[in-house]
Amino acid sequence: MKALHYEGPFKVSVKEVDAPSIAHPDDCIVKVTTAAICGSDLHMYQGRTAAEAGLVFGHENMGIITEVGSGVTLLKKGDRVVMPFNVADGRCRNCEEGKTAFCTGVNPGFAGGAYGYVAMGPYQGGQAQFIRVPYADFNCLTLPPGIEHEADFALLADIFPTGWHGLVLAGFKPGESVAVFGAGPVGLMAAYSGIIRGASNVYVVDTVPERLAAAEKIGCIPIDFKASDPVEQIIQKNGGMVDRAVDAVGYQAVDASGSKEKPNIVLEQIIKVTRPTGGLGIPGLYVPADPGAPDAQSKEGNILIPFGKLFEKGLHLGTGQCNVKAYSRYLRDLIISGRAKPSFVVSHEVGMDEAVNAYDKFDRRIDGYTKVLLRPNGPL
Ligand SMILES: NC(=O)c1ccc[n+]([C@@H]2O[C@H](COP(=O)([O-])OP(=O)(O)OC[C@H]3O[C@@H](n4cnc5c(N)ncnc54)[C@H](O)[C@@H]3O)[C@@H](O)[C@H]2O)c1
Ligand SMILES: [Zn+2]
Repeated sequence: MKALHYEGPFKVSVKEVDAPSIAHPDDCIVKVTTAAICGSDLHMYQGRTAAEAGLVFGHENMGIITEVGSGVTLLKKGDRVVMPFNVADGRCRNCEEGKTAFCTGVNPGFAGGAYGYVAMGPYQGGQAQFIRVPYADFNCLTLPPGIEHEADFALLADIFPTGWHGLVLAGFKPGESVAVFGAGPVGLMAAYSGIIRGASNVYVVDTVPERLAAAEKIGCIPIDFKASDPVEQIIQKNGGMVDRAVDAVGYQAVDASGSKEKPNIVLEQIIKVTRPTGGLGIPGLYVPADPGAPDAQSKEGNILIPFGKLFEKGLHLGTGQCNVKAYSRYLRDLIISGRAKPSFVVSHEVGMDEAVNAYDKFDRRIDGYTKVLLRPNGPL
């Protein structure tokens, strides 16, 4: 089968590899109809992780089941499914509590597994024609048959639940105001979740024009961080600090120049922009070590934040990978009923022949590349 390979910084290629097969009775094999490229893939693509050559990327996968192991009871060949990016066993303490992003049974020595991601276990990604899904009954969410809502359903693997989770982590309640930093796919989904869930005002901070325009189109107030201090812009427009803030940028945040990395800038800003006793949701990725970081302490994973201000304001915060399975069933049903259409964020749908080019353009955030869906087996 064809699969997208990581070769080294800024280099991926499409290669022929062996197709996966059932390795355990609880596995299934899925023919991938859609696999999305994620901002999280870019950290690896840019060489800013310990990812090694040969890794097949792709943790946002959906498709049709072609084979089930003898232990699989809820699924059958031909079922249309989407897989949360988390690989989870469904039986450890964290899974029992719904915290599937921190499963202790799938990645020895670590809490959490994922497909096609560095340090997240031996699970090859779905930017390939086929993928093996372990603990298939637990890790597949079934979808209505056919090809309807394909682009919406593909976003159930990660970004729609992750954006939603950002608000949950922040402790959001309907009627509150929210500032979302980052208008990438995750930020736009957090903003969209705020709109769906009845936020009074949603401010979205970025500088990429197409992304800010997408935020405005769904009813948010765009804030360009290059124009002037985004915290001041928000406080002025909102008539005071916001109730909740979401960091959908992560450790590769850039400063006001738009090109120099400053890993703590967004954390600093969300602490400033949120009212006393408000809440912060931090789905943006931070790493325990980052040799490519711009300052010595961030290289060691120590991000300097105004903790005294956080204490003084009595803010609470939540962070970490999203427990996708806690939300994806319900978000699927919002899509089916027509109450949510997250695919507004999708900018490009491409075949394997265009995958390398799509990585390059998505990475450079040019030509409107916001969310790319790969079709590893060609058009639907
Ligand atoms: N917690 C999870 O489970 C989870 C899941 C998916 C992605 N993520 C992480 O979420 C983050 C966002 O993902 P994405 O796919 O949207 O990525 P992305 O790279 O497409 O988007 C990030 C956006 O942040 C903007 N940005 C950079 N510096 C900024 C600043 N100082 N202020 C405001 N905006 C700034 C960029 O212009 C860009 O549009 C990444 O760190 C990704 O790894 C986390
Ligand atoms: Zn992702």
